[in-house]
Parts: sequence; structure tokens; C-alpha cells
Amino acid sequence: MSEYIINRLGQLGDGVIDSPHGEIFAPFTLPGEHIEGEVKSGRIYDPKIIKPVSDRIKPSCKHFKNCGGCTLQHASDSFLSDWKIKKTKEALSQVNLHPTFRKIINTKKESRRRATFAAKRTKKGSMVGFHGRASDIIVEITECPVSDPILLSGMPAFSKFALLGSSRKAVLRISATVSGKSLDVKVDNGKELSATEISKFAQICNQSKIIRLMWNNDIIAQSNPPSQTMGLAQVVPPSGAFLQATKTGEAALVETVLEIIGPAKRVVDLFSGCGTFALPISNKAAVHALESDQNMISALDSGWRIVGGLHNILAEKRDLFRRPLMPDEFKNIDAVVIDPPRAGAISQVTELAKTNVKRIAFVSCNPATFARDASILCNNGYNLDWVQVVDQFLWNSHVELVAQFTK
Ligand SMILES: C[S@@+](CC[C@H](N)C(=O)[O-])C[C@H]1O[C@@H](n2cnc3c(N)ncnc32)[C@H](O)[C@@H]1O
Repeated sequence: MSEYIINRLGQLGDGVIDSPHGEIFAPFTLPGEHIEGEVKSGRIYDPKIIKPVSDRIKPSCKHFKNCGGCTLQHASDSFLSDWKIKKTKEALSQVNLHPTFRKIINTKKESRRRATFAAKRTKKGSMVGFHGRASDIIVEITECPVSDPILLSGMPAFSKFALLGSSRKAVLRISATVSGKSLDVKVDNGKELSATEISKFAQICNQSKIIRLMWNNDIIAQSNPPSQTMGLAQVVPPSGAFLQATKTGEAALVETVLEIIGPAKRVVDLFSGCGTFALPISNKAAVHALESDQNMISALDSGWRIVGGLHNILAEKRDLFRRPLMPDEFKNIDAVVIDPPRAGAISQVTELAKTNVKRIAFVSCNPATFARDASILCNNGYNLDWVQVVDQFLWNSHVELVAQFTK
């Protein structure tokens, strides 16, 4: 076995050795560490750490390394914060942007409010867990220090769903979202259920904290509407809808967005989802919210209508990749919020860049596409004033950020 020194971390958090023959990846290692291992197809699958660095810490969870959820539990908090900022700075420097970075905002353990479990029948009964790293194997879990405990409280019910509701070889995909002190659950890949089975499942939900259960494409049990607070409104998101990963992360993003738009009176919210930003903004400004998912747009609209006294929200279903909002549609708009999916929003940003909207709050979960889109704005007269990283993704390589652009 040969000895190597880790040079840096790659995009997904694996250690990287820059060897004369190209990159070699070694999971669960940190820059500066001396490791030993056998290279197979450019990867050392099970590196032995022979000289650790001081940033190495004991992982919090016994399932770390097998479970695919976390990749960086072996690194200290300060290392991770610095690495996430560095990763974002590097992406921006590739397009020649060097903005100021604000102090990172971190989120705590046990705060993740959404998770996707895998469950299946076994010879002895059933099992529930998370998929292993880049694999189909289900790692049965008994703890998860990242997830809100309410998510984990659903596991006995998920196990029953697998036992009673999956065909022999199927793996159930169970997306669970915390709603207050309860759970909103969506199951895909389940078998077709008889009326008797449906009433049995409703009973299981009643005995656990599940207030809504969508089975394949049908809601088969609902005791209460699973609502989320957004500004002054209560929104009932469609089953499995996008929500920010943690409540505290969401609060930090909303606060930063409100700061950026300042005293704006007319705001456009692009990729609005169910109204995470549009609804708090409607406390002080009129909003045109756009989103491609009709159910999310309807949820936003209903949530807004129930609260009296908010400024107007025009909620429009629109595919902003194919039909971006055009420059003349930004007439009289004081500020824009944009929060695209990981792919970014090249066509929408190209149109936005042509406008004279004074302030843009750009929220992104992908530094690479953010850098590309930021350069389009900056090449068209916008200034990237600062970037605020909000670490909603404890112990993995994802980065969430908000940035202020002004013209
Ligand atoms: C990162 S999420 C942000 C949602 C919302 N701003 C929030 O914070 O909850 C991106 C949103 O873009 C929507 N989306 C994806 N592709 C889209 C498209 N082509 N046009 C408009 N919206 C799209 C998704 O449905 C999702 O709600």
C-alpha cells in the first residue's frame, strides 16, 4: 500500500490527491492528512489515516461512513465553515468576481426538517433507513443527529408502511416534512391499496404524528392540514413540495432578503415556491410571484388570501426557463428576489440583466451556477456587493447563499 498526502477537498467533500497521473479521490479525509490505501479507478475506497490533522473530529453519528446522508462529519465546524466560504469564493473568482463575504450563518444539529427515507420488506419484517453513499443499499438507521427528532419519530410508521404496502422487491421512497409538531408524508413506489388497507394506514397515521399521507399520487389520510408559517400566513404546501432545509436557515435567508430589498414597494419574486419570501415581503410591498408548479402557486395564493391586510400578491404559474419574465415586465419594479433550482437561471438572468431594477436578492444552493449567473449580471452593469453564506446543510458539501446586487 502506498502513502499519500491529501491536497484539498473536491466539490463533493472527498479528499483529493493531485498526483502526476491525475486526481485521486479519498473519502473521509482532510487536507494535509497522510493516508495509506490502494487506488482503484482513481479512488481510494477505504483510506487508512496515518497522520490526522487537528481539524479531524470524532463523527457524531454511528452510521457515518455507511449512510449516504453526511460526508463530512469528521471535520470540525470551523473547518467546514471556512471550506464552504472558500468553495464559493473559488467559484466566483473563476468569473473574476471578488465580493465581500459576510460571516457565515450556521444551523444546528437536529434541525433538518425534510428527509427522504428508503424502506423495504425483509425476510424478518421490514427496514427503514437512508440510501448508502452512491448506492442502492439501504442503511438501516437508529439515529440521525442532523434530522429534527420529529422526522425520526415517523420511522415505526414507515416500517409498517413497508411491511403492509410494498411489493416484495420494491423500495418505498418516503419523503417526510416536519409540520409544527407533526409530519407530512409522501410515499412513492407503494403497491395499490385496497379500501381495508387504506383504513388500516389511516389508523397507523393517527397512532403516530402523521397528519397527511400521500400514497403514490393520492392523499389517503389527512387529520389536519399540514401548514407552514410564512410571514403572517399559514400555507399548506402540496405533498413533497420544496421547502428550505431548516427553519432557522429559512429565517436567516428571509431576514437577509428583506434587508436587501429595503424600502422597495414593488417586488418580483422569481422561483417563488409556496411563498417563503413573497409572503414575508407582502407585509410591506406588493409582490409578483412566479413559479412553474401550479400546486405551489395555489398554496401561496390561498395562504395569502386568508390573511387580511397584506399587500397584493399576484401569483403566476410560469416556466421561467422557457418563458422568462421580460425586461418590460420589470417596469416600475424596485427590487427582485431570485431563488432558482440548482441548475441556476441562465435565461431568466439574461433578461433580468437588461433591466434597471435597482436591487436584486439572489438566493442560490449552487455556487457554480450562481457564479455563472452573477457574471451575466455584473457584465451588464450590476455590482455584486456582498455574499452571505447560510449553512443549512450540516456535515455535507452543499452550500446555500444570499447575495446582494445593485445597479
Ligand atoms: C430553490 S427552490 C426555491 C423556492 C422558494 N423560493 C423557497 O425558498 O421556498 C426553486 C423553485 O423553482 C421552481 N422551479 C423549478 N424550475 C422552474 C422553472 N423552469 N420555472 C419556474 N419555476 C421553477 C421549483 O418548483 C422550486 O419551487
